[in-house]
Amino acid sequence: MSAELKTITVIGAGGKMGMRISANLQKSAYQVFYCENSPTAQQQVAEKGRELSDARSVIPLSDAVILAVPDIVLGKVSETVVPQMKAGAVLLTLDPAAAWANLIARRDDIEYAVAHPCHPSVFLQRYTKEEHEDAFGGIAAAQHVVASCENEAYKAALSGLIGCMYGPVEQVHWVTIKQLAFLEPTLVETVACMLGVFMKEALDETVKRSGVPEEAAKAMLYGHIQIALAVAFRATNPFSDACTIAMEYGREKIIKPDWKVIFEEQELDKIIARMLKIDSIRR
Ligand SMILES: NC(=O)c1ccc[n+]([C@@H]2O[C@H](COP(=O)([O-])OP(=O)(O)OC[C@H]3O[C@@H](n4cnc5c(N)ncnc54)[C@H](O)[C@@H]3O)[C@@H](O)[C@H]2O)c1
Repeated sequence: MSAELKTITVIGAGGKMGMRISANLQKSAYQVFYCENSPTAQQQVAEKGRELSDARSVIPLSDAVILAVPDIVLGKVSETVVPQMKAGAVLLTLDPAAAWANLIARRDDIEYAVAHPCHPSVFLQRYTKEEHEDAFGGIAAAQHVVASCENEAYKAALSGLIGCMYGPVEQVHWVTIKQLAFLEPTLVETVACMLGVFMKEALDETVKRSGVPEEAAKAMLYGHIQIALAVAFRATNPFSDACTIAMEYGREKIIKPDWKVIFEEQELDKIIARMLKIDSIRR
């Protein structure tokens, strides 16, 4: 039998993710309760016409409770929330770190899920101004979501909820918690976000050291980011022979030969413990 999710509580409704997902849930047919602790964030929720609820009153009524709170407090918040949930309800978190670190309070008669937005692809065909402006996703540009849930019977209902929260959503990919953790942080934060900031640093250094006007450096870099991604990921055309030599030089000077250790489980544990500000991962 497949599960039904109709009544949803958002804990942390006034935070960054809470505000984003609430904006979409508010327009939906779900019955949604918004809970928020901080007075400033409560004001933001109220300003959007969302009525605040007392968590203790609404959690026991909810088919799904979304914890949109910072990862470092997820363990503590879940210890309060989980005992109040009704049997068969789902606890949905938005990042795999705390789940992978076994920080979330457990109960055998509820379900657990994690759903992380992919953000709209760099290769997405965008047509409207709104789509172009929607870098994060959840407003106008379509994105995919990667999610995890062990109970097959919940995936259809969760896909509906996830599609609404992060919409427009093109596809929900189901993976294990460990796989989700290798996607985020390892692939997209440790590698992709680090490289994004690294390129910005290289841009600043080029301007400082060579005296190139900043606008010229930006134009050269932004265009080359586009072509580098197209060639590397889509094989649109090969890199030139000279470019290949410069790339080899860059690898020798910049990348450590053993960088692929980041894909080992003990390194995943280390980075997640560091992110959660705990000494080590509980197994
Ligand atoms: N910010 C992002 O870009 C992003 C992207 C994907 C996933 N996530 C995940 O989303 C989750 C939330 O992150 P965020 O960046 O939105 O955090 P945030 O710090 O912006 O917001 C968290 C909100 O939770 C509230 N809060 C804390 N404890 C609470 C409690 N007990 N009851 C009610 N409200 C409480 C805080 O007052 C705050 O308003 C995290 O798991 C994070 O990893 C964030």
